Amino acid sequence: MATKIFYFSATGNCLFVARKIADELSNTTVISIPQVINTDIDTSGEMIGFVFPIYAWGLPNIVEDFIKKIKLNKDQYIFAVGTCGGTPCGTLLQLKKMLQKKGADLNASFLVKENSYTPLSNDVPLIRFMMNIAGKQPLSFKERFPQIIEIIKNNQKHKAERSKPLANFLGTLLHGAAIKSFKTMDNNFIVNEKCNQCQTCEKICPQQNIKIIDGKPKWQNNCEFCFSCLQWCPKNAIQYKGSSPDAKQSHHPEAKLKDFILR
Ligand SMILES: Cc1cc2nc3c(=O)[nH]c(=O)nc-3n(C[C@H](O)[C@H](O)[C@H](O)COP(=O)(O)O)c2cc1C
Ligand code: SF4
Ligand code: SF4
Repeated sequence: MATKIFYFSATGNCLFVARKIADELSNTTVISIPQVINTDIDTSGEMIGFVFPIYAWGLPNIVEDFIKKIKLNKDQYIFAVGTCGGTPCGTLLQLKKMLQKKGADLNASFLVKENSYTPLSNDVPLIRFMMNIAGKQPLSFKERFPQIIEIIKNNQKHKAERSKPLANFLGTLLHGAAIKSFKTMDNNFIVNEKCNQCQTCEKICPQQNIKIIDGKPKWQNNCEFCFSCLQWCPKNAIQYKGSSPDAKQSHHPEAKLKDFILR
């Protein structure tokens, strides 16, 4: 059965998940959303999968834009895996609604909790509050893997997983403003003297939000807030104002810089 898995990943969790699922299916192509979003996107195939991180209790901007853009149909078996840090809220319901508007459906969708590789502390009142009301945290992909594969392989239905109702309600309420605010969060990136003008940050940014001007990266206020530039800079020359003093560059252990070079 021809399958396409579209993924967005900044620090490797979603790429790992997408590849692991693809390894278990036949005739499957794994496609980076940032790489194809500005092209004529081919969504043919009997099975379509989406793998993405959860950002601000919902879909990342780039995933939402991608879903709006693509064509799908009701005969396709559509599945999704959202990877998160523990407060997924109603993200998969957001996706299901978007797909239904396009005449398709989300047949099976799963949440998994993975290590978070952001340099910012999660120890802030709103995040703590959302974590407290979200309910039981999702299990890791490693723990869910056999069940997820079984369901997808057999084209079974699986209800969109979600947090507790109050968390979903508040998450949905907060998501729109929060995700919009991410666009200008790049005002807080700082580049230090270690920068050797290699242009890697420009080449990996999923939103083409970095331009090298006079030999230095300049952020363009269309940020996904994914921290890919900071985490993958070969010289560790990018910092974020207000990040934890002991924050170090980090990513999924199997992720490699070459997987994130987009152009
Ligand atoms: C800007 C940003 C916002 C995030 N918001 C949430 C969130 O609302 N809930 C949550 O559980 N995890 C959140 N996370 C954690 C990511 O969803 C999680 O680390 C994900 O697995 C990253 O996937 P990747 O490694 O493929 O990029 C956020 C991470 C970032 C960078
Ligand atoms: S990736 Fe790092 S070293 Fe290379 S241009 Fe960007 S900031 Fe400078
Ligand atoms: S500028 Fe950095 S944080 Fe913003 S979208 Fe690009 S890679 Fe991600």
